[in-house]
Amino acid sequence: MTTSHIPEILTNLDAGVMTLTIHRVDKKNSITSAMYAAMADALAAAESDPAVRVVVIQGHETIFSAGNDIGDFLNKPPSTQDSPVFRFLRGISTFPKPVVAAVCGPAVGIGTTLLLHCDLIYAGDNAAFSMPFVNLGLCPEAASSLLVPQLMGYPRAAEALLLGEPFTAETALEIGLINRIVPPSEASALAHQQARKLAAKPLSSVIETKRLMKKGNTSLMAERMAEEATSFGRMLSEPAAREAFTAFMQKRKPDFTNV
Ligand code: COA
Repeated sequence: MTTSHIPEILTNLDAGVMTLTIHRVDKKNSITSAMYAAMADALAAAESDPAVRVVVIQGHETIFSAGNDIGDFLNKPPSTQDSPVFRFLRGISTFPKPVVAAVCGPAVGIGTTLLLHCDLIYAGDNAAFSMPFVNLGLCPEAASSLLVPQLMGYPRAAEALLLGEPFTAETALEIGLINRIVPPSEASALAHQQARKLAAKPLSSVIETKRLMKKGNTSLMAERMAEEATSFGRMLSEPAAREAFTAFMQKRKPDFTNV
């Protein structure tokens, strides 16, 4: 495994499959702006590199990601559409080659919403998904306000996005967010096995098929993501978010993963 330009994001290329590993387990794989920038750069490089045919995104067997690094967000809130978090989201949502994810443990906030832009998702039976934006005084990002209701229907989307209720791997499988549930120790291997299958197929056929399947949503997604980013950026500096983030920093955290 090699590193990107920072040690918290590892990248590795093997037989057409680029693996991008979120590697900050001591902080539950929460993602700083430097990590978003590294992931955005890695995706941009993978898009233009003919040696990369598929990307695998993974975390650790115990934690996929606790979402945005809250301290980093307090100190360096993303203020423009070019902020690293939004650059990463645009990169993954428009990535033309297939993206496969292995998800184990909690996937909070963007840990869940980035999955809406992956093509195949293999989850450990310890996976727990949550999008607690409202609980944090924020609003959805990653076009999740569009894609979550499309995926699970409005009533369940309201539980997930308005109430911020977490859901299990079983629920994620039932609603069609993920492809399969396996023991956590097997999720990465299965994701890579499926990625290698994709890497062996004609790349232009894979890219064109993905483009066609996503076509109905492409401009809607871009438009929604930009609108969400404007609201999200504004809400970050408003009292509700600052109080929620300060509470977390002072260890008065809510439990988002008690499913
Ligand atoms: N931002 C910054 N630091 C975070 C973090 C985040 N989103 N999530 C976890 N951490 C840090 C904790 O502050 C703690 O740091 P410390 O060891 O220096 O005190 C460390 O990671 C371990 O976290 P802890 O909460 O003790 O682990 P846990 O196993 O009890 O709970 C989670 C794991 C993911 C359920 C919990 O950390 C959590 O709810 N995190 C916040 C999720 C969130 O609100 N994300 C923002 C979405 S916009």
